[in-house]
Amino acid sequence: METVTTVAELRSIVKQWKKEGKSIGFVPTMGYLHEGHGSLISRARENDRVVVSIFVNPMQFGENEDFSSYPRDFERDCRFCGSLGTDIVFHPDPSEIYASDFCTFVDMSRLTENLCGKSRPGHFRGVCTVVAKLLNIVNPDRAYFGEKDAQQLAVIKRMVRDLNIDVEIIGCPIVREHDGLAKSSRNTYLNGDERKAALVLNKALSYAEMLAKKGVTDPETITSAMIELIKSEPLAKVDYVKAVNSITMEDIEKINPQTLIAIAVYIGKTRLIDNLIVR
Ligand code: PAJ
Repeated sequence: METVTTVAELRSIVKQWKKEGKSIGFVPTMGYLHEGHGSLISRARENDRVVVSIFVNPMQFGENEDFSSYPRDFERDCRFCGSLGTDIVFHPDPSEIYASDFCTFVDMSRLTENLCGKSRPGHFRGVCTVVAKLLNIVNPDRAYFGEKDAQQLAVIKRMVRDLNIDVEIIGCPIVREHDGLAKSSRNTYLNGDERKAALVLNKALSYAEMLAKKGVTDPETITSAMIELIKSEPLAKVDYVKAVNSITMEDIEKINPQTLIAIAVYIGKTRLIDNLIVR
């Protein structure tokens, strides 16, 4: 496995692979990798070559968010990538991605106006801009994103469609800890009590699933029940609990198959997200 830090070097390697007719799978990440990322990398092995990017993208963090404290362990990430058969880890410096006079952005309306887009203004502008750039740099046949970030996945699919970017976007299922907590690099912020309290996210989603299975179709009935359950956990504070159309991210009037139930909850100071699609 090779580590590459410049756009020029990555492009020349990719060019050679393309000449040889190799297919390329790409997994963009911000590092501090866990089995959630691992599942994307393993799936990407369906291509001849796999590129993983590790780049904590400053543009997608708000002013009061955790950009500087975001966990980083590049050496460990490289070992993890190597063990899963990654060919290249792309690890650019922010200055390699953003020139000092950088002034072009990819902005999306509609799909970004609800859920995390509403709570984190500017977040998806940062995500779309960096992912568009990374797709232009790596030029992969397929790129892999987790359903854990359901809105991000929908936004990236729409961006690729709207801008005619020549790549197939593949969504991969949420990987969880044994007790149901969705794996996240941010779980490392949780202390012992918070780690236990964080189970309330998955509990609230399971409760919603149970209500939907019982035939409850009113979104408000389901989200209120979820909010009540989350409130019973003293360390938890709801950011949002929403039932939306899983493609448009718009509020819905009736729960149906393909409804996305998405939640963001603060556990102490740590903001965690999770979701499920009603089947
Ligand atoms: P990051 O949070 O590192 O996540 C990288 C990819 O891993 C995303 O597609 C995310 O959905 C997926 N992922 C994270 N936890 C997962 C889990 N428990 N199960 C399945 N997939 C999981 O998302 C980002 O980085 C950034 O926004 C990025 C797309 C790299 C742009 O900067």
